[in-house]
Amino acid sequence: MLKIFCALVIALGLAGNSFAQDLNFNAESYEVKEINNIAFRAYENICYVSRPLEPEYQVMSIYIPAEYFQDGGTVNNYSAANAPIFMPNGVGGYMPGRIAAPGLGRDGKANAALNALARGYVVAAPAIRGRTLKHGKAPALIVDYKAAVRYLRYIKRLNLLPAGDTEKIISNGTSAGGALSALLGATGNAAEYKKYLDEIGAADERDDIFAAMAYCPITDLDHADMAYEWIFNGINDYHQAKMLRPMNGGGNNRPENAPLDTKAAALMSDVQIAASNKLKAMYPDYLNSLNLKDAQGNFLTLNANGEGSFKEFIKNIYIAAAQGALDADKSALNNIKCFGVDGDRVVSMDLKAYAEWATRLKAAPAFDALDNSSGENNEFGTESINAQHFTAFAYDNSLVDAGIADEAIIKLLNPLNFIGHDGVNTAKHWRIRHGVLDRDTVIAVPAVLALKLLNNNCAVDFKSPWGYGHAGDYDLNELFDWIDSICK
Ligand code: DHB
Repeated sequence: MLKIFCALVIALGLAGNSFAQDLNFNAESYEVKEINNIAFRAYENICYVSRPLEPEYQVMSIYIPAEYFQDGGTVNNYSAANAPIFMPNGVGGYMPGRIAAPGLGRDGKANAALNALARGYVVAAPAIRGRTLKHGKAPALIVDYKAAVRYLRYIKRLNLLPAGDTEKIISNGTSAGGALSALLGATGNAAEYKKYLDEIGAADERDDIFAAMAYCPITDLDHADMAYEWIFNGINDYHQAKMLRPMNGGGNNRPENAPLDTKAAALMSDVQIAASNKLKAMYPDYLNSLNLKDAQGNFLTLNANGEGSFKEFIKNIYIAAAQGALDADKSALNNIKCFGVDGDRVVSMDLKAYAEWATRLKAAPAFDALDNSSGENNEFGTESINAQHFTAFAYDNSLVDAGIADEAIIKLLNPLNFIGHDGVNTAKHWRIRHGVLDRDTVIAVPAVLALKLLNNNCAVDFKSPWGYGHAGDYDLNELFDWIDSICK
């Protein structure tokens, strides 16, 4: 009887395991490629989890400069042993993200991954699940990015990774991908993700990283509606079409899958205008609850009217950007009314005039739409529910019969919930960019992220580049100079 029981247990155990695949890396399975005279080995489409739920997306490619396969080969003073690992994600619009492979960008120039190889970095580029897949809703995207980091550490420990220092992993992404990069950087080893990592058979390794680069991160989604109205309240026309932009479409450099930005304006409804007024009034309490301080240790706050030191801090970021533009070109601010200039100095800024100049992209609420129709509503759906609210405000004021996402899952998508917490290893080095003309989210959102990191002893390089809207990877020389400066 006992024998039969044991045989049954073993058989069941084997059957259970047979659903899982091993975490493999075959160092002999690569192609040699060359783009723009940059030669590299490409190990492509490697599954980074042992129980993939979306096998087409839970794969990663690893690209290694060819020099590291010659004895003692170096590039940019890096070697196979100490080359940093650049880890870009191709996520946009919270959609599934494809592998961000080395190649030429829309502008015909070397993209970030190809630049990284030229500079001697190893590139590890995972595809990542997104909101339109059956198993792709929150928190799938961050679980996959973490699993890819764990996979790299796993094959490194087995001495299979041909080159690259897994203690020097730098993430990169734009917009939803920037939010994802920030989330990876903020949440290293946080226990809250474990059950999701176990579900897909992620390697039992650490998932903290060295540095994070976030271009225009669409983050802090559960508070961004208030921040948006703090800046755009009073402007009642907006410039977004109801449809998503077509893949690869558009004549500007907005990321794929970003909402379609229109020239023609639509007018917000009375309900949306009322929502704007309420959300604006709610922002100061939220902002003050964060207890943020500037680099000199002064508290940054807002009074009930939305005025105060935090507003001055935000204005000074734009003033610094405008000063740079004026220094480069004396006529740069000629037709721009929101900056006050005295001689060759930018001395003041009017945030209301800025909002008129930049124009509102999204109706209120910008992210958690009252009709439950935004991409973010879809991101917070479940396997069986297409879309849900994720703020109490939109849920309470919903125009449709829609539920609200699980509080624990909303928490898993916000980096602010993890920075400085016990048992979490937040990346030490950060570079965050939000273009002066970006209105997919407002600058207060990445500014709060930057301040929270600064207040928790991270090194943060945060700027608003002049002349840029919602875009990323536009300053690759500076990006890689920054990475060199923190790695060397
Ligand atoms: C992106 C842009 C948005 O405006 C948004 O709400 C979500 C994502 C993007 O470009 O990824």
